[in-house]
Amino acid sequence: ANPGSNAATKGWQKVGTVAQLDKTGQLLLENSPIGAVLVVGTSKTAKNLIAVNPTCTHQGCTIDWKAKESKFVCPCHGAKFARDGKAQDGPAKKPLKTYQAKIEGSSVLVQA
Ligand code: FES
Repeated sequence: ANPGSNAATKGWQKVGTVAQLDKTGQLLLENSPIGAVLVVGTSKTAKNLIAVNPTCTHQGCTIDWKAKESKFVCPCHGAKFARDGKAQDGPAKKPLKTYQAKIEGSSVLVQA
């Protein structure tokens, strides 16, 4: 309710607003203080927000969230990752880096 205050708890970084997230169900921030972050979800499903570093662990393309399949898919060579970041299919073997995410007021916060 007070957008000017910097009440974020230590370690939590603001990556965008709830309005931005709710618009498309995802929020991509290329240059946050903790690097690229992709948050998936909406304020309606706030308890199930997912946040990952969207850099594919194969060769570094930016992965897409496929809501229907509930998976992350890399456009470059087709690697697939589960909601929790685990590599499932394709050439990537290592999981995506994941973060805790939460909504506080009108802000979407991610913890490194
Ligand atoms: Fe993602 Fe190759 S860079 S599958």
